[in-house]
Amino acid sequence: MRGKAISWNGDYLLVLDQTKLPLSEEYLALRDTEDYVKAIRLMKVRGAPLIGIVAGYAVAQAGLNSAFSDLQDFEAKVRKAIARISATRPTAVNLYKALERMQRVLDDNILRTPREIANLLVEQAKAIHKEEIEATEKISRLGATLIPPGSEVVTICNTGELATAGLGTALGVIRQAFRQNKIKRVWVLETRPYLQGRLTAWELAKDKIPFRVLVDGAVGALFRKVKISASIVGADRIAKNGDFANKIGTYQLAVLSEKHQADFIVCAPTTTFDPNTKSGDQIKIEERDGDEVRKFSRSFVLPKNYPVWNPAFDVTPAELVSYYVSDEGIKLGRRKLKDDS
Ligand code: MRU
Repeated sequence: MRGKAISWNGDYLLVLDQTKLPLSEEYLALRDTEDYVKAIRLMKVRGAPLIGIVAGYAVAQAGLNSAFSDLQDFEAKVRKAIARISATRPTAVNLYKALERMQRVLDDNILRTPREIANLLVEQAKAIHKEEIEATEKISRLGATLIPPGSEVVTICNTGELATAGLGTALGVIRQAFRQNKIKRVWVLETRPYLQGRLTAWELAKDKIPFRVLVDGAVGALFRKVKISASIVGADRIAKNGDFANKIGTYQLAVLSEKHQADFIVCAPTTTFDPNTKSGDQIKIEERDGDEVRKFSRSFVLPKNYPVWNPAFDVTPAELVSYYVSDEGIKLGRRKLKDDS
């Protein structure tokens, strides 16, 4: 299914609507800044690297749409698009890094014509897209070396093509390890409330990789019942000290992995590492609308006036991480360093 999550079609971005999967495969055309803002906010497109890629195209789109304006108007519209996109989802650092790259193209070429700058913005967005795909190939190859034959592994959220436009981070590692006959079965956490587990199941089903979906609350029972070799997860932002934010539920998976001596492997491109954030406490965690919890599918299962807490991510402290796998290599985490000493 490679190449399906998004495609740039010359003057608009076509995206697979992830809120409809796996029951229906519907595409959306994004043609102006507000289309991009909505697609990111409403989780039509999601996953840290993919959000970064889409952010790049959003700025390129704003440039193309204003290519016939005068320079002042062009610049104002592109800067407005950058500001609008940067206010969509706060946790994944990939979004901000992509926007910084796009902004630099604008700043460095401000003496050129709007048409020329718009073309350069498109080239930069395509470069971000290509680099993210290449990063997932390296991560997959490297990460698979950590997986022993006959492994039962657990993953959370979706970290595949739908989250990266490439092979995936954690899911890329699983794919590569499966090709090497090392994966017996993948346990897919459902990942309430957005159920990104259904996206992972969809990708695994397409690749004929054996899997089972379980509700998030069943994960403790799973560790007691099945010998899990590794939990393999993605990340939205990795702080300088190794703490990282990822989909809500990741922290409990890290605690269980330590308790049951399963490796806990964090897979992410270099664009997810944030040296400017010292530790996990400084990561801004997105809190989403309470109706995502009050509702199941389209129906309310809790009255509208019941209070809920709906953090989209949690922070896992560095001491619970066995390995970090990025496109630049494998780094031992503090848990591994402690176990080995
Ligand atoms: O809210 P989402 O679906 O955008 O959250 C995505 C995750 O938490 C992923 O695990 C993370 O972005 C890594 S994707 C390679």
